[in-house]
Amino acid sequence: PLARVLYFEETDSTNAQGLLLAAQGAEDNTLLVAERQSAGRGRFGRKWVTAPGTSLAFSLVMRPTPAEAAHLSLFALLGASAVRRAAQIMCGCSALVKWPNDVLLDGRKTSGILAESAWQGDKLSGLVLGIGINILPGSVPPDEGLLYPATCLQAHCALPIERYAFLASVLEQLISLRGELTGAAFLADFNEHLAFKGQMVSLSATGSDPVSGILQGVGSDGCLRLLDENGQINSYPVGDLRLRPR
Ligand code: BTN
Repeated sequence: PLARVLYFEETDSTNAQGLLLAAQGAEDNTLLVAERQSAGRGRFGRKWVTAPGTSLAFSLVMRPTPAEAAHLSLFALLGASAVRRAAQIMCGCSALVKWPNDVLLDGRKTSGILAESAWQGDKLSGLVLGIGINILPGSVPPDEGLLYPATCLQAHCALPIERYAFLASVLEQLISLRGELTGAAFLADFNEHLAFKGQMVSLSATGSDPVSGILQGVGSDGCLRLLDENGQINSYPVGDLRLRPR
């Protein structure tokens, strides 16, 4: 269950606000929802645009238990799994997750997740799981030649989608999957719906050259496992993943 819900007509970023609340000792499962964000953010410092009326932007502040805190990298995967499962349940859509945390429908991105942790010194005070979802057609920005262009859930679903009903479904999935986060079933389910499995991909991380390999899956440490040309499997904790152009 949610401890508290904060709704903003407009805020800078529900993740930024969530981090402030976490530092002030917010309770586990505090939800922040915004209709507009003036400084919505994504991974690698990218900007995230929230279209009012047609998309969802929210962050869940969690206080990981010590056992969960040992697996912080799994929280981003948790967010992506929850959105993927809600899309299946509410719309019958078979989405895939592009590691670590983009939800793709037919190779187009419908949702992005940003997990950020709040620290007080070396003590973890909270984990903020921010989720942006394009629901209705008005949320899809013009195609700017992105490798994985945006789409919205409604474009893949015959039934009309009500935004807040979808939010409720994602939250239900988040809370129930969190209970299985460190178990084998969670990872198996994540890997079963992983985009680009068995395909040649490249992974770029800031400050180093991109690496390539055949995508094997994700390990229990949340790392991406790639088979290199020498037959060796290497694990990577972070990066921007793409199918390698032929
Ligand atoms: C990404 O695709 O890189 C992640 C995007 C995450 C966007 C969500 S919208 C709600 C929350 N608030 C933010 O500023 N970002 C996340």
